[in-house]
Amino acid sequence: MNSQPRRVENLQTDKGKVPVYATGIVEQPWDDYSPADHDTWSKLYARQREILPGRACDEFLAAQDAMGMTPDRIPRFSELNRVLSAATGWTLMGVEGLLPELDFFDHLANRRFPVTWWIRRPDQIDYIEEPDLFHDLFGHVPLLMNPMFADYMQAYGKGGVKAHGIGADALQHLTRLYWYTVEFGLIRQADGLRIFGAGIVSSKGESIYALESAAPNRIGFDLERVMRTRYRIDSYQKTYFVIDGFEQLMRATEPDFGPIYARLAGQESLPAGKVLDSDHVYQRGTGEGWPTDADV
Ligand code: PHE
Ligand code: FE
Repeated sequence: MNSQPRRVENLQTDKGKVPVYATGIVEQPWDDYSPADHDTWSKLYARQREILPGRACDEFLAAQDAMGMTPDRIPRFSELNRVLSAATGWTLMGVEGLLPELDFFDHLANRRFPVTWWIRRPDQIDYIEEPDLFHDLFGHVPLLMNPMFADYMQAYGKGGVKAHGIGADALQHLTRLYWYTVEFGLIRQADGLRIFGAGIVSSKGESIYALESAAPNRIGFDLERVMRTRYRIDSYQKTYFVIDGFEQLMRATEPDFGPIYARLAGQESLPAGKVLDSDHVYQRGTGEGWPTDADV
């Protein structure tokens, strides 16, 4: 799609009718999506829904059904918002792409979730580096229907505003937590490991790899361990962390992170593929195919 999206000049915010959040916020230009755009959505949606039963966690699948996203066309944010705001008070907002960190945290802290309005080109169907509409909407939004996860995301936003005020180190530790939970988290269910991370559920290759490949480590979630662990942005993860349930995640992240950031400041970060003696190891990865250059 070529047309420039319209910018919202005077957005109604809780701070009054001011253009505070105007930068990057767009009204979803729904009428401008091309047939090819809708077709990309349809293909990706159908493909993921085919492989996710038995792989994505029950909460994700139930939430996605409850939202009423359909494969036939790109959903309208305004329609999803009616369902979502009634369920948990979250609102989706269209954006151009990644936001400055503090803006992103502030949106989350106020239960606003930024969704990239544009969808990838047909030749990017299997992989795109930046988040697009499919990743954001299909991957992130369903769990916002879940009351516990909805609260977790807001708490993360508030924690982000706080970490931003503390400094770059604190932010880096918090970002790793986001990466290994919201983006690439696994969860243990009665019938085995399942996916809840948006970066995994929005990728066919990684949905299979994260659960079935012998290459990556799968390690029980431990807050400080996760915060110390570097990650990959250009390949599948070397390590996936497994939570026992959203209750565990809520409980672990409830305490004030201030003292935790202070303690971590003196410690070395861990390479993405490292396994420690203290880890609860579900699977020690073979490391096959791991890139050898430095982790982020
Ligand atoms: N408890 C964290 C803090 O004090 C905030 C937080 C909550 C961070 C949930 C992440 C997830 O900073
Ligand atoms: Fe994401």
